Amino acid sequence: MQADAPQTVHLADYTAPNWWVEKVELAFDLHPTATRVRSKIRFIRNPDAEGRDLHLDGENLSLITLAVDGKPLTGNEYRKTDTSLTVPGDTLPQDAFTWEAEVEINPEANTALEGLYMSNGMFCTQCEAEGFRKITYYPDRPDVMAPFEVRINSDLPVLLSNGNHAERGNGMAVWSDPWPKPAYLFALVAGDLVAISDRFTTRSGRDVALNIWVRRGDEGKCAFAMDALKRSMRWDEEVYGREYDLDIFNIVAVDDFNMGAMENKGLNIFNSSAVLASPETSTDDNFARIEAIIAHEYFHNWTGNRITCRDWFQLCLKEGLTVFRDQQFSGDTRGAAVERIGNVLSLRARQFREDAGPLAHPVRPESFVEINNFYTATVYEKGAEIIGMLKRLVGDDAYYKACDLYFSRHDGDAATIEDWLKVFEDTTGRDLTRFKRWYTQAGTPRVTVTDSFKDGTYRIDFEQVTPPTPGQPDKEPQLIPMAMGLINPDGSEARPTQVVELTEARQSLRFDGLDARPIPSLLRGFSAPVILDHSPGFNDRATLLAHDTDPFVRWEAGRALTRQTVLAMLTDRAAPDPAYLDALQMAAANDTLDPAFRALVLSLPSQDDIAQGCVDAGVVPDPTAIHHALKALGRSIGDHMEGLFTTLYDRLASDAPYRPDAAQSGKRALRNMALRRLTPRDGATRARAQFDTATNMTDQLAAFACLLEAGDPQVAAQFEAQWHGDRLVMDKWFMLQVAQAEPKDAVSRAKILTEHPDFTMKNPNRFRAVMGGLTGGNPAGFHDPSGAGYRFLATWLIRLDAANPQTAARLSTAFETWKRYDADRQTLMRTELERILDTDGLSRDLAEMTSRMLEG
Ligand code: TRP
Ligand code: ZN
Repeated sequence: MQADAPQTVHLADYTAPNWWVEKVELAFDLHPTATRVRSKIRFIRNPDAEGRDLHLDGENLSLITLAVDGKPLTGNEYRKTDTSLTVPGDTLPQDAFTWEAEVEINPEANTALEGLYMSNGMFCTQCEAEGFRKITYYPDRPDVMAPFEVRINSDLPVLLSNGNHAERGNGMAVWSDPWPKPAYLFALVAGDLVAISDRFTTRSGRDVALNIWVRRGDEGKCAFAMDALKRSMRWDEEVYGREYDLDIFNIVAVDDFNMGAMENKGLNIFNSSAVLASPETSTDDNFARIEAIIAHEYFHNWTGNRITCRDWFQLCLKEGLTVFRDQQFSGDTRGAAVERIGNVLSLRARQFREDAGPLAHPVRPESFVEINNFYTATVYEKGAEIIGMLKRLVGDDAYYKACDLYFSRHDGDAATIEDWLKVFEDTTGRDLTRFKRWYTQAGTPRVTVTDSFKDGTYRIDFEQVTPPTPGQPDKEPQLIPMAMGLINPDGSEARPTQVVELTEARQSLRFDGLDARPIPSLLRGFSAPVILDHSPGFNDRATLLAHDTDPFVRWEAGRALTRQTVLAMLTDRAAPDPAYLDALQMAAANDTLDPAFRALVLSLPSQDDIAQGCVDAGVVPDPTAIHHALKALGRSIGDHMEGLFTTLYDRLASDAPYRPDAAQSGKRALRNMALRRLTPRDGATRARAQFDTATNMTDQLAAFACLLEAGDPQVAAQFEAQWHGDRLVMDKWFMLQVAQAEPKDAVSRAKILTEHPDFTMKNPNRFRAVMGGLTGGNPAGFHDPSGAGYRFLATWLIRLDAANPQTAARLSTAFETWKRYDADRQTLMRTELERILDTDGLSRDLAEMTSRMLEG
């Protein structure tokens, strides 16, 4: 056996496999430390391929037997490495053969949570992207699609796999999935689970059994997810004409899971945080996230499963489109304006940050070492923005026509971005060559706006530049759909929304016959994922905030004023301008506006957002100063609007039974914003009362955060005493204590929490709670000038990497902004990145991430 050095995989090197798979039969004898997997695979020759060798992937497998057409293979008839098994073509039959293998695997030793592993006594799998190769030898690539039949032998009461139930007996079950699928969609679950069950009748009359499988005791937390599932199924029928295609749809909640959830055919597996919910234990944000993830995984049944990706470079084909679809669903369910603002906030916080640093990559990357490192905000969220732009460019009718063509033309295919764009070209007759640059060019385009007004003519000039990113020094202009309108100085609309297609580096536009200089309302609905460089005066922004017809631009105007205020506090030590506070108060007090929207207007930008704002303004960000400036601004807002906040807090109190819907959660968001602003002024009395009497987690957690921030000495212990039995609630406890600590105490608080008996590296949620509480929740603490935060994180990443490389690599992105900071901090961070990279036996996941961060 030889070890394979990590290799870079290139999109340009794609070749179809020599052999396709016609049928897969698997049999599992489950055992925690010695599971036997027997496979019987029918291979048929790919007539278009030149080679004949059979290449199979396999990792951490103990090979027991191998046979081709019933004849055992001897050791010199194949070549085996740590990661592969190759049978030379000349020892194989001409056109087809049956492969049989038996391997043994050890689920209990599998701490990477990829392949077959154990979580709290239950067997489960995670195969995307390349985990199936840890279960048996197989061509583990998404373009190899086959129907699967799976036999599970085990004494455990619940035995699940993909597809429909074929047979059920004592200590065994057989599942049959008729839809050809790639191996990454394979799933198996076995355990002592209970289901809450329901039914759904599809539009064409298929009766589908729905089950959500959970650990005993969690049955009471499934109702919301079940309802969200049924609403998702209906929505996909109504909006995209997509129906479900099996007799059963199973969801399983698993405590130890690397990401949110996984769309395995007919057997979605969920991180329990993405499915379990109750009013007492889950916040409004948790409910919204669960609804979005349930929808996302369900929608993958068509965008991902029925039509999958030819290779992993096409990941955005399924992820960008599916995120776009779940965003549409959430917008339809909870209100388009507020959802859009939330999506933009997340895009800017995660994707713009990624695009501005050493990890920047195109939505369709051209190479990777470890594909798990490319499940990124760029692939998912910028990928979704591309779909939104396409829809805006061609219009709704053409969009759904093109989607219909995509579903009919490519059903059963492993497709590419070219296939996706072609259905739009064929539907609309448009040439999308230039548009395609959104998939191939990394970096966030910056659109600079200048304007002038003379003799009734308004002229606006756009200049677009996309900055260099690693491996891409020069950029071409992109096709930017700029939705814009014009507003009169009195706030009325001078010109309604039009979509201007910016295609050149420089472009200008004229509007004639205007009585007064208009205020441009740009990038309405955030029509493209770009940075708008435009600095209208205070009055124009205040007018947009008060009057624009587009809710996104309205919110954005307020946000720009707030950012400007914070930056002035940082650079000129200026106090917040009372005119700004008045403008904010006017929006906050406007009862004709949705409370959720008003809460968003009152929310402050994150510390990370301000840090990037400093960089854009040519100032080196000082994390401690940013922390204090935002805190001071929060207090100024509280002082200025005490009367309004007092009124809102009292008036928005409600004893209606809890519902997680948009209307109620918007009111809670606004009321809890008032609470937060009043807490420094009322000696935390409201927060204390709310904490003690809250009947839902949204209100209790908001009060908890206020009390922690106010330095309440008892509240952490009280919360723990109340919730120590609930893992998901305790994740919040771990996270918030670090996030709300004084920056100088944040690292020591995090250290203390890692010594808590309930802290464990084996559970990604718990690990993320503490580490994310520091890196994302307490940036000033993470960036403590001593470097203690950097050392703490690096030490834990090295430890986690030995057990779970995927999650370690993900969390290492806390370092991706290291070049923003002063020389001392840069040195401290570089030292930690180098220390990680020098670690013996480092995973290729973390090695790739750290070296990209150091090089980029
Ligand atoms: N395909 C999944 C989704 O988007 C996410 C996913 C990819 C995943 N790799 C994973 C989930 C590994 C868990 C573990 O919904
Ligand atoms: Zn997905």
